[in-house]
Amino acid sequence: MPTTVFTIANQKGGVGKTTTAVNLAAGLAAKKIHTLLIDLDPQASATSAVGIEKQEGKSLYGPLRGEGVAFSMITPTAYEHLALIPSEEDLAAAEIELAQTENYLARLRGVIDPIRNSAGFRVIIIDCPPALGLLSMNSLAAADHLLITLQCEYMALEGLGQILRNVERLKTAGVNPGLELGGVVMTMYDGRTNLSKQVVDEVKRHLPDKIFNTVIPRTVRLSEAPSFGKPIFAYDPDSLGAEAYTSLTNEVIKRFGLKD
Ligand SMILES: Nc1ncnc2c1ncn2[C@@H]1O[C@H](COP(=O)(O)OP(=O)(O)O)[C@@H](O)[C@H]1O
Ligand SMILES: [Mg+2]
Repeated sequence: MPTTVFTIANQKGGVGKTTTAVNLAAGLAAKKIHTLLIDLDPQASATSAVGIEKQEGKSLYGPLRGEGVAFSMITPTAYEHLALIPSEEDLAAAEIELAQTENYLARLRGVIDPIRNSAGFRVIIIDCPPALGLLSMNSLAAADHLLITLQCEYMALEGLGQILRNVERLKTAGVNPGLELGGVVMTMYDGRTNLSKQVVDEVKRHLPDKIFNTVIPRTVRLSEAPSFGKPIFAYDPDSLGAEAYTSLTNEVIKRFGLKD
């Protein structure tokens, strides 16, 4: 089985990228699908959310500048079938340094290519920083599918055009002709407000075949779990958040044929 690479990118912060990266990765792992989570955000929130301490020299910063290999950055987690390539603050420098390298959009692709297909991971999920800088652009160049998270808030669709234009640019420039918008995940849904429902309806109108049926509710348990270094399935397996991310995981498995 080939490796399927997803990137969760969006220039907005606080829209549920990391929460979705972590809990989708953990959800797939819980279904015995070997998954590698790559934390590409220098803030390292996905790293701590799966209970791993930041460690100097353990991130893709070195490999991106030609020092060391990504393989040696793979760190096991407490969860079966789930491994992590952590982040560290130094990764922020890559945002600037990459611009001075040759092939600066395809660096990440080159760095993770040896892991693709050969390391036994069925899925790689990349969690991006909240900017469309070179790290996010590199993740788009390295991925098969872009997953976008949108907060169920006023102006949710704002900025969507920008990232989709970048996808088109990478495709037509031949950097990653196979890249597709894989899906849109609506997050932080508040069932008590009309606004949440209106936002979901609006996105359904715009992207009917991309929006996932599963909508992630706004719940305190989902926001608490990262501070305990646990995915929602370990923190509170019976919560609404766990239920929602299980349902999203099942949709992702089905949509992308991740189980035979
Ligand atoms: N469904 C949710 N319900 C409640 N809080 C959430 C939910 N999803 C994310 N959060 C919280 O909102 C904040 C931003 O989410 P995060 O996933 O870190 O977004 P991003 O990675 O896009 O910046 C975090 O504090 C996170 O714990
Ligand atoms: Mg994040």
